[in-house]
Amino acid sequence: MAAPVTLLRTQVGIVGGGPAGLMLGHLLHLHRIDSVILERRPEDHVVERVRAGVLEQGTVDLLASTGAGDRLQREGMRHGGIYVAFEQARHRIDMAGLTGGRVITIYGQNEVVRDLIDARRASGAPLRFEVSDLTLHDVDSDRPNIRFVEQGQEFALACDWIAGCDGFHGPCRTAIPAAKLRTFERIYPFAWLGILAEAAPTSEELVYSLHERGFALFSMRSPAITRLYLQVPPDEDVAAWPDERIWSELQIRLRTSDGWRPKEGAIVQKGITGMRSFVAEPMRFGRLFLAGDAAHIVPPTGAKGLNLAMADVARLARGFERFYGDGQTDLLDTYSERGLRRVWRAQRFSWWMTSMLHRIPGDAPFDHRRQIAELDYLVSSSAAMTSLSENYTGIPFE
Ligand code: APR
Ligand code: PHB
Repeated sequence: MAAPVTLLRTQVGIVGGGPAGLMLGHLLHLHRIDSVILERRPEDHVVERVRAGVLEQGTVDLLASTGAGDRLQREGMRHGGIYVAFEQARHRIDMAGLTGGRVITIYGQNEVVRDLIDARRASGAPLRFEVSDLTLHDVDSDRPNIRFVEQGQEFALACDWIAGCDGFHGPCRTAIPAAKLRTFERIYPFAWLGILAEAAPTSEELVYSLHERGFALFSMRSPAITRLYLQVPPDEDVAAWPDERIWSELQIRLRTSDGWRPKEGAIVQKGITGMRSFVAEPMRFGRLFLAGDAAHIVPPTGAKGLNLAMADVARLARGFERFYGDGQTDLLDTYSERGLRRVWRAQRFSWWMTSMLHRIPGDAPFDHRRQIAELDYLVSSSAAMTSLSENYTGIPFE
């Protein structure tokens, strides 16, 4: 005889305990809207997953204004500019000066996740890790529900709304009938090899570098930890990159004629990530809303991934607040249209940064010289630097 299904009820069922799902749960709790967060992975996996670490002002303000930003404000590194390097020279772009003071904050995405899990625990609101066999039902009816298994027990969670914050590979986007969904994609012919190194950062700000051997990025996590990336072929095996080879290639691509170079140290983490641009339209189907990587992916060159996810859930939470507050669905009804405007703007910027700063395999010498000319124009035109700065620091959240 089949084990009985345990019935649960909530207002918003959230699939995915990454930054998008956790932030949405946090915002809803602050407005006394019930939600249940369902995450497939164990907690330590979600917390230790090393990803990017550039926060726009809007993301910092959202975390700080909702009580989840204390550690970020203590440990985050505020940067008013970035460097762009080519032909062995670094050029600083004074983003704060060109945008009336807007800055970025360097703080690991996994630290944001850790802080949001702590906030969720403190709220006592449900957060379930290691759920499996999760399926969505009746999302285009007024009684959507989620079925899942946890420790061998089957559950059915009845919701008013479902938030698909389950990343690119999750089930929520695929719950939208293909005839109702349009997708747009660009896969880039290269990947990033990223490392964390126990070495004090030798530059006070990030350095984006185009070298004839390919892209390189100098970033950091703390006064003791440097984060660095190298352009590698898309199907590269990390085993082909012993530490010495990584350091020698980083030195070649990053060092500049003024003697600047990254300091070397023990490599404590390394991994390779593919590069793609992806957009799913619309970001809503019936009672199901998509947010974050479930709806869109940007290549990391523009540092937009996490910030777009935060902008999505801030917009979605305001829609739910209005619905449960005044019974109005207007903000929910325009969630997708308003979201896609911001998504495509970030897609354009991320594609531009990626195309300008990476060697395209098989490109002609003309193309590389044109990239150098574009970078030379960028660092010699305040209009061009202002445009980069506006997009890099991020447009304010609505
Ligand atoms: N059931 C439950 N959880 C699931 C399922 C499932 N079937 N499928 C996926 N998930 C979980 C994943 O395990 C992951 O923890 O959904 C979460 C999605 O989190 P992210 O992939 O981090 O996506 P998101 O929260 O949208 O954050 C976007 O993450 O990848 C970076 O660059 C990206 O910075 C951006 C940010
Ligand atoms: C990072 O610090 O991990 C980082 C910084 C800038 C990017 C991408 C990643 O564009």
